[in-house]
Amino acid sequence: MDQNAKKQAVAKAALDYVKDDCIIGVGSGSTVGCFIEALAPYVDRIKGAVSASESSTAKLKAIGIEVFDLNDVSELDIYVDGADEVTEHKHMIKGGGAALTREKIVAAVAETFVCIVDDSKRVDVLGRFPLPVEVIPMARSYVARKLVELGGDPEYRQGVITDNGNVILDVHNMRILDPKKLESDINAIAGVVTNGLFAHRGADIVLTASESGIVKY
Ligand code: 5RP
Repeated sequence: MDQNAKKQAVAKAALDYVKDDCIIGVGSGSTVGCFIEALAPYVDRIKGAVSASESSTAKLKAIGIEVFDLNDVSELDIYVDGADEVTEHKHMIKGGGAALTREKIVAAVAETFVCIVDDSKRVDVLGRFPLPVEVIPMARSYVARKLVELGGDPEYRQGVITDNGNVILDVHNMRILDPKKLESDINAIAGVVTNGLFAHRGADIVLTASESGIVKY
């Protein structure tokens, strides 16, 4: 089974968590792209979606799903999203697609976060994947210096502007043993919008696709 087949399999498994007549939160990335494709036959079952990226919004609309502004929705039953890394504690690194801030906002509103990944994303310790940090453009150099003080090796993601008009610093060489503390410490730097650690609000359910099928924990 190749990685794409695993993404499709786990995306399909997430359909079990979609209740009728609900508005669902939808993240971004290629695994979520598979989830949106899998949703196509169920378009009439749900009321609509709140989307965490312009890219997912376009895909949702293309299959006829109404996309709501989060400000018009008071509750979300589930939020389905992928991850760049996930641990057994359901802490994640996200933001490989630069959509981390909106993803964190939609995840915060949702009752249940269903994380969908293939088994290449499972790690014991977060940090092999460079940690994305969304930064207000004028603060880029200052934030980079502060990230070095925290032990990281930040790299400016050239040519990328987020959906919110900001830039991304990818922090290399962090072995993240206390994800909640690091999430808070980075968010406390002036000029940081948010970082890609999802530890304070981790996933509630992780579905992992492997050769032997879907594992839920
Ligand atoms: C985007 C994300 C994605 O969920 C993450 O990058 C995983 O993407 P993919 O499913 O393409 O591997 O956090 O900001």
